[in-house]
Amino acid sequence: MENELLRQELNPFMPGAGMQPPELVGRERDLEIVDRMIARTKLNNLDRGIIFSGLRGVGKTVLLVKLQEMAAGKNMLTAKIESSGNPDDDYEAIFHEINLAAMKIHLVGGLKKRLGDVISNIKSMSFGAFGLSASVSRESSAQTSENPFKLELLIESITTELKKSNSGLYLFIDELQEMADEPLGTLMSIQHKMGQRSLPFYIIGAGLPNLPGVLSKSRSYAERLFEYRTIGQLSDADAAEGFQKPARRNGRPFTDDALNELIKVSSGYPYFIQAYGKAAWNASGSNPIPLQAVTKSEACARAELDDGLYSARWQRTTPPGRRYLAAMAKIGTESPSSTAEVADRLGKSTGEISMTRDKLIKLGLIYSPEYGKVAFTVPGMGEFILRAMPSDGQVYDGR
Ligand SMILES: Nc1ncnc2c1ncn2[C@@H]1O[C@H](COP(=O)(O)OP(=O)(O)O)[C@@H](O)[C@H]1O
Ligand SMILES: [Mg+2]
Repeated sequence: MENELLRQELNPFMPGAGMQPPELVGRERDLEIVDRMIARTKLNNLDRGIIFSGLRGVGKTVLLVKLQEMAAGKNMLTAKIESSGNPDDDYEAIFHEINLAAMKIHLVGGLKKRLGDVISNIKSMSFGAFGLSASVSRESSAQTSENPFKLELLIESITTELKKSNSGLYLFIDELQEMADEPLGTLMSIQHKMGQRSLPFYIIGAGLPNLPGVLSKSRSYAERLFEYRTIGQLSDADAAEGFQKPARRNGRPFTDDALNELIKVSSGYPYFIQAYGKAAWNASGSNPIPLQAVTKSEACARAELDDGLYSARWQRTTPPGRRYLAAMAKIGTESPSSTAEVADRLGKSTGEISMTRDKLIKLGLIYSPEYGKVAFTVPGMGEFILRAMPSDGQVYDGR
């Protein structure tokens, strides 16, 4: 009993959204790109921003956190927010985080004071006097507010000061696909303008696979503004390292056949690596950890995935949403489904179910990889639905 507790204490694996993994594997290239960006900023050379997109659980959030740490450690001014989807809240978060970062920066040469002056200057300005609200539409409170102008002025003033100290402003935004068209469009146009004025302001964003499409829809020049990186499944070699390095470091490596089984069941998904690694480690006290421990613990790992990734999302869905998802899962769990086929299965026209589809997209459960297709944003969601659904398929029909 005591041994088992000690074993659990030593377990290096821990699945959880945004939780730093014991070993961040397979992201060397992404780290390198940002490292190069920082080096270029120090030489006053310009760059594009970066957009990371991928399914849920592939490690976008933890990568963003790592990159921010890296940039901050190399004297860049960094701010990070997670988009809430609410324009006013997002603006407020951006102002707040940039403010905070400016107060914390460790640069020498009076930069901190200059940044402080810039910020208090902008805070005290009255924007209404410029009659600036005329150029934006009157749709929402955020759009008619002074936020876009204030933000542009703030970023321009700050980056002007930062540039003199060979630094730049890096704004990290998680769940960027959630952001409303305003402030999203404003942020992109600010980065665009700063580029034209040779000022170092970069958005480093992360989001679901539909993110590149959301950006191009908002600004036609989005494609030229960013370098696009897909964050996906890890190679077998990287997955092996993701299991073996932490296990070895904590004193109990996996045997070769245990490792092969783990690579197979995790399909290179970072979230799965943590879940299967954790369960296998706990399942056996042997050293090295044998294949048998892995096979014995697979059900436990799947239960952890159900809890962490699937159940809550399924619960949040309405009965029509569930019927839609179940139809997708029945059509196929691996590749995208055509919306026409989903409609067919539900005995409706595509028009009749388009609202349900849009709601599921808004909830971040599915996305449209191409016109007329839908796919799950969470790896394994289709299998979960089939697994959780009784064979008659009626319970989730909500009738
Ligand atoms: N490169 C990686 N190697 C190993 N585990 C990782 C890696 N990236 C993420 N993870 C783990 O995967 C899980 C999901 O990561 P997260 O950043 O929340 O994904 P996302 O933001 O894409 O949904 C976390 O438990 C995290 O520790
Ligand atoms: Mg995330």
